[in-house]
Amino acid sequence: MPAETRSLQDTVVAITGATAGIGAATARLLVEAGARVALGGRRTDRLDALVAELGPGNAVAVTCDVSRPADNAALVAAAVNTWGKLDSVVPNAGMGLYGSILDHTDERVAEMMDTNYAGTVWTVRAAVPEMLRTTGGGDIVIVASVAGLRGGGDEAVYAGTKFAQVGLAGALDRELGAKGIRVTAVCPAGVDTEFALGTGRTPGSPILETYLRPEDVAFAVVTVLAQPRRLRTTLWSLWSMGQQS
Ligand SMILES: NC(=O)c1ccc[n+]([C@@H]2O[C@H](COP(=O)([O-])OP(=O)(O)OC[C@H]3O[C@@H](n4cnc5c(N)ncnc54)[C@H](OP(=O)(O)O)[C@@H]3O)[C@@H](O)[C@H]2O)c1
Repeated sequence: MPAETRSLQDTVVAITGATAGIGAATARLLVEAGARVALGGRRTDRLDALVAELGPGNAVAVTCDVSRPADNAALVAAAVNTWGKLDSVVPNAGMGLYGSILDHTDERVAEMMDTNYAGTVWTVRAAVPEMLRTTGGGDIVIVASVAGLRGGGDEAVYAGTKFAQVGLAGALDRELGAKGIRVTAVCPAGVDTEFALGTGRTPGSPILETYLRPEDVAFAVVTVLAQPRRLRTTLWSLWSMGQQS
């Protein structure tokens, strides 16, 4: 590792979608690295369980629906009120729908766009002013998807929301770099989480053994955060050795 790898000790990171999968794995790895985490998600019981696991001194949780701007502001406020600052934010909350664009209800399509794309925008809008005010910089690490680089034929609307996240990350990199904020889109291929179940996949399906693990994506997020400040990674497409690119 380069000598100037950044220590994450006592840094404060807000994570959305922290009740499961990649978000929860990222929270665990960050706390292992000495960071403090503010956890957002809609399922309060899971948030409470994760705070208890990580230790109340290391984690704070806010029941939060990312499609609501005020909920994102509450998550950021919890971090700042608890630890006095916000170093970085990981907009990770997301949902997927498989099948033709014609298969889904209007409500589910709207929910996916509101969660995956608008939710990311609301999280960023809440976090950036407080990152600039309290630490003068930091990182935004958006968990997008390889579907945001080349969409599959059974996930068109989902892919569109992920392309939007990747486009947002690139534009934010150009907007915020001069202010000291690095912006990264981490784009994983299939990950073995609750999200990946569907279209014939069930818990224990053999295909899932070839998938990334949530801890793999957490590793990417933490690696990005720990980069020396003179470096930035704008895009990371992440695959397991068993996955076809
Ligand atoms: N699994 C994959 O194959 C894969 C591949 C590439 C990219 N990704 C991306 O990775 C991210 C995390 O997914 P995952 O695989 O970890 O899935 P997961 O285990 O199903 O977790 C999804 C998380 O998003 C949260 N969430 C969903 N809607 C939300 C909302 N409106 N407000 C707040 N939180 C919300 C869920 O929490 P609550 O339900 O408690 O709110 C949960 O914590 C997503 O953005 C997904 O698109 C996943």
